[in-house]
Amino acid sequence: MKALYFDHFGNSDVLTYGELPDPVVSRSELLLGMEYIGLNYADIYRRKGEYHIEERSPYINGYEGVGTVIDIGSAVSEYNIGDKVFFVDVPFSNAELVAVPKENAIKLPSNMDSKLVASIGLQGLTADFLAHDLGNGLESSNVFVHGISGGVGQILAQMLTADGLNVYGITSSKEKQQMALEQGAKRVFLRNSDWQEDYLSYFDTVYDGVGITLLDSIDLVKHRGKVVFFGMAGGNPPKIDFVELLSQSKSILTGDLWDYLTSYKERSERSDRLFKYFREGTINISEPTIFSLSNGKEAHEFLESGKSVGKILLEP
Ligand SMILES: NC(=O)c1ccc[n+]([C@@H]2O[C@H](COP(=O)([O-])OP(=O)(O)OC[C@H]3O[C@@H](n4cnc5c(N)ncnc54)[C@H](OP(=O)(O)O)[C@@H]3O)[C@@H](O)[C@H]2O)c1
Repeated sequence: MKALYFDHFGNSDVLTYGELPDPVVSRSELLLGMEYIGLNYADIYRRKGEYHIEERSPYINGYEGVGTVIDIGSAVSEYNIGDKVFFVDVPFSNAELVAVPKENAIKLPSNMDSKLVASIGLQGLTADFLAHDLGNGLESSNVFVHGISGGVGQILAQMLTADGLNVYGITSSKEKQQMALEQGAKRVFLRNSDWQEDYLSYFDTVYDGVGITLLDSIDLVKHRGKVVFFGMAGGNPPKIDFVELLSQSKSILTGDLWDYLTSYKERSERSDRLFKYFREGTINISEPTIFSLSNGKEAHEFLESGKSVGKILLEP
């Protein structure tokens, strides 16, 4: 099969597209012919050697995608050849073929398009645990989302709005600001404008997947409020003074999607909850940008450039 892989850490130059052996399907796995593969920040962190990674050389990056079942392990009775399946927590997905344990596979609902599911899978399930497990869930409370027009940001902001919260956010351009407002945000600030002084200690919850903004997030959240730190899209966070945090009763929560997808039940219940927002039309997202898997290097560079809006997909 063709795959995108690397054998040492580094910048996008380490990525090679070429022939590797097909995966061997175990008794409890499905073999998928991949249709769309999601690209995520975690793929960048792994390529640079800054994130947990499985032992394998060369290493095939990627953890999510949508594909069609083309082979079935002898202990799997729940699937048929031709079924469409998606997954968000299976390694080695930057390839034409991926072996997926049956408990990690989720059948695509018949009324949902593969491209849409590939565009919302990992980021949508991330938004789900951020909003519903780590968020405060109080109706009418004020929440702030850094990177509101990013992949997670767009879904998270609309989910929180649909759940009855007032959503504020920040972005880098007028176009992205307009998009976030059309998606229901109450106010969206521009990064290069002067707005922060009016909102110090204002928000009940601040969602921060940007990292370098963590001190700003602490300033923006009110006493007894929560900062939910979930990623480093802009760079690693600064050191935090916990004694100062304590003196203001501010809390920092963190979370990794893997810890919220620990069983088939959890994967399918969370996916159903996510898909419901899309089926009911409560959440709309921008069209994904699609690169051929053979152009994976360009896709990594585009994600790192900060110019992307929403999801980047790789197509084998
Ligand atoms: N914890 C988890 O389980 C989990 C799961 C998935 C993703 N994540 C994390 O979630 C974050 C967002 O991922 P994504 O897939 O949504 O990526 P994305 O679509 O590229 O969005 C990243 C956002 O970060 C903002 N950003 C980037 N650099 C910035 C900077 N220097 N200053 C301020 N804002 C900056 C961008 O804002 P503009 O568009 O306004 O420029 C963009 O909207 C990443 O950190 C990722 O690692 C965490």
